[in-house]
Amino acid sequence: MVVAKEPLPLTLEMTDEHEMLLQAVRDFAQKEIVPVAPHFDETGDFPLDNIRKMGAMGLMGIEVPEEYGGAGMDTLAYVLAMVEIAKADASHSTIMSVNNSLYCHGILKFGTEEQIRRYVTPVAQGEKIGAYSLTEPMSGSDAATMLSRAVLSEDGQHYIINGRKSWVTSGPVADYVVLFTMTDPDKGNKGITAFIIEADQPGFIRGKKEPKLGIRASATSELIFENYKVPVSNVLGKVGDGFKIAMTVLDAGRIGIAAQALGIAEAAYEASVAYARERQAFGGPIGQFQMIQQKIADMKTRIEASRALIYNAVLAKKRAMATGGRFTLEASMAKLFASETAAFVTDEAIQIHGGMGYSKELNVERYYRDARITRIYEGTSEVQRMVIARNELGLR
Ligand code: CAA
Repeated sequence: MVVAKEPLPLTLEMTDEHEMLLQAVRDFAQKEIVPVAPHFDETGDFPLDNIRKMGAMGLMGIEVPEEYGGAGMDTLAYVLAMVEIAKADASHSTIMSVNNSLYCHGILKFGTEEQIRRYVTPVAQGEKIGAYSLTEPMSGSDAATMLSRAVLSEDGQHYIINGRKSWVTSGPVADYVVLFTMTDPDKGNKGITAFIIEADQPGFIRGKKEPKLGIRASATSELIFENYKVPVSNVLGKVGDGFKIAMTVLDAGRIGIAAQALGIAEAAYEASVAYARERQAFGGPIGQFQMIQQKIADMKTRIEASRALIYNAVLAKKRAMATGGRFTLEASMAKLFASETAAFVTDEAIQIHGGMGYSKELNVERYYRDARITRIYEGTSEVQRMVIARNELGLR
């Protein structure tokens, strides 16, 4: 008799619903995003109209159940949609990824029914914007060393928050923020608590919008808290569980960033193939030269390897949801490889395009700038390697 030691692996299936979503998102991205992406990149304006439209399509809460106003789909659907939006414009996909995986996912997983109804539904529908705030000026990769503080009021009804958070995606426009701050500094990472913050309350101050190399239409800023009063009912999960919540949420977020990186890489790759077919040099299209062919072969291979690692992470997440386990390793591998692939592919895309690749007349220079952040945010490549190696070596 054969006894299975582990549950049989679940599989990923591309359903008719996934196909329909893919087609709808592709059409929307090509019609509504591609034509305006250079303008938003140039001005750095926030593409609010498109974000509202994406919300109406269900793209701001793809995995949020329909009863809470989302599309009620799965992580595969999220990944498919992210790739298409990122292919059209990385900034739009950054806003989408924070709303979906860093904001909605965290509240859905750790929030109360009341918190979900109040704070997830309007974001999933694109009426409000969500943000996630972990990083501080002096704590980025070493996330547990934060200096901001939340102190319980004497009557035990509120926490008073003071401190400065940095690099908050959608910080300049967010209506609600999932905030991680220290409630018990003596306990290190076990002294961090997650809160749901409303932006329109006294003591919530938005810092200046950061001027950035890429994803320029995704607004980023500091958030400053000056005696901000938050009710205890807005604690997300348990007091002291904030670090684990932050890390769990980032596991899901990293799959989204991997999909974003894949979308940027695909856009750069498709432009390169078209250019290599059209551009003439030395009596024929440049694609006939082996040095260009090598680039195309390596770009394509790394893109497909990224896709495979992303699907592997989606599958691991599906299994983890069924068994209560984690998918940290698979999410980190997908994010590491896809973001480094996006850097490689966008760089080679410029090389294939030559001078035209360096010009703002084409989109490839934007893809190159936009790809850069995927190796930094939601955990740098160095942090992903640390997570992967620690997992393999059984280290902490
Ligand atoms: N899921 C659940 N729990 C986790 C976890 C995970 N993925 N990772 C760690 N933990 C738990 C550990 O099990 C451990 O718990 P116990 O003490 O109970 O055993 C606890 O958390 C501490 O773990 P570590 O000792 O491994 O923690 P560490 O301090 O060494 O840090 C780290 C590990 C991986 C480097 C982590 O700090 C990290 O991921 N840093 C990067 C942070 C990051 O990604 N920042 C980006 C912020 S978001 C952003 O980019 C802005 C935006 O708006 C998009």
